[in-house]
Amino acid sequence: MKIIGTGRAVPKHTVSNDMLSEFLDTSDEWIVPRTGIHTRQIITDETLQDLAIEASKKALADSGLEAKDIDFILCSNVANNYVTPAMSAFIQEATGCTCPFFDINGACAGFIYALDIADAYMHSGRAKNILIVAAEEVTKFCNWKQRETSVLFGDGAAAAVVSYDAEPMPVILTGDANYKDVITYRRKLEQTPFEQPDKAVNEAMILKGRDVFRMAVTCAKRDIKALLDKAGLQPSDIKYFMLHQANKRIVDAIQEHLEMPAEKFPTIIDHSGNTSSASVPLLIDETAEKGMINEGDLLLLDAFGAGFVTGAAIVKWGKKSK
Ligand code: UT7
Repeated sequence: MKIIGTGRAVPKHTVSNDMLSEFLDTSDEWIVPRTGIHTRQIITDETLQDLAIEASKKALADSGLEAKDIDFILCSNVANNYVTPAMSAFIQEATGCTCPFFDINGACAGFIYALDIADAYMHSGRAKNILIVAAEEVTKFCNWKQRETSVLFGDGAAAAVVSYDAEPMPVILTGDANYKDVITYRRKLEQTPFEQPDKAVNEAMILKGRDVFRMAVTCAKRDIKALLDKAGLQPSDIKYFMLHQANKRIVDAIQEHLEMPAEKFPTIIDHSGNTSSASVPLLIDETAEKGMINEGDLLLLDAFGAGFVTGAAIVKWGKKSK
């Protein structure tokens, strides 16, 4: 499978660490060395649907394809204020595509899970071109009185048009539900007359940061090595290692472990914060826009998140530099 077009859209409101310290007991001095985050974009009067649609239209235009050429739309989204219809329904309508669509929740690794589904559809002969969109508004899962979570996240959407390639995409997905409690966000649904009122739970995100950090580093090292072995590649065959932007220190730990130069690990976390599954395609689009990716380059993508799920894949860049 190859990527033939990308696009992104982020909220217009930039929030600095100093702005957060006006209402939280936190500081730039605490946030930057522990996370690498300086600013993040946070939704105000846009909707997540607006961002997902804008990113999708840009990716479609960048691919050179028309709406009628898209055989499927997959949207990675953990949550938004529509439980139904899916985010991908809004995207289908606005882009003029007529193909089937559905959303998936693979937490922060959702974009890689969507790539895997797309590759399987392509290799079963059911699709040639697929629009994959990752759209997330994690800032709305946080309790904004808790500094432990709210300083970490940002919002955004990014999309990629992927197309059939004769070689199947090397991929590794793992899940270990023994660790499902390390990140949780529980929402109350409607109350029925048949249950006790106090049974329904509404609880902002709970993040066991140290556990997630440890697991992220351990899993990413394991998955990247296994994926390179599976693909018969050396780290030097990879143009860029594009890791989920959860924490700059996690990226640095993997880079040191692989003994590869820092330039092979581009990051955007300084100005994006953690945007869950949107982080990897946002990173791809920003890197491509700088003209840093050329036709035939191999990108190793790696992400991890609630579940606990992980995903790593090697995708080919299928177009000239942006
Ligand atoms: O996409 C996947 C989801 N999430 C992640 O990948 C997050 C992974 N984890 C991390 O990035 C790091 O664990 C954090 C950045 C979340 C936290 O860094 P840490 O070095 O593990 O800090 P900590 O949680 O152990 O907290 C250390 C101290 C605590 O104070 P005491 O108990 O030592 O007095 C916290 O209360 O820092 C305090 N603290 C803060 N202080 C200022 C926690 N958050 C803040 C804050 N500002 N925002």
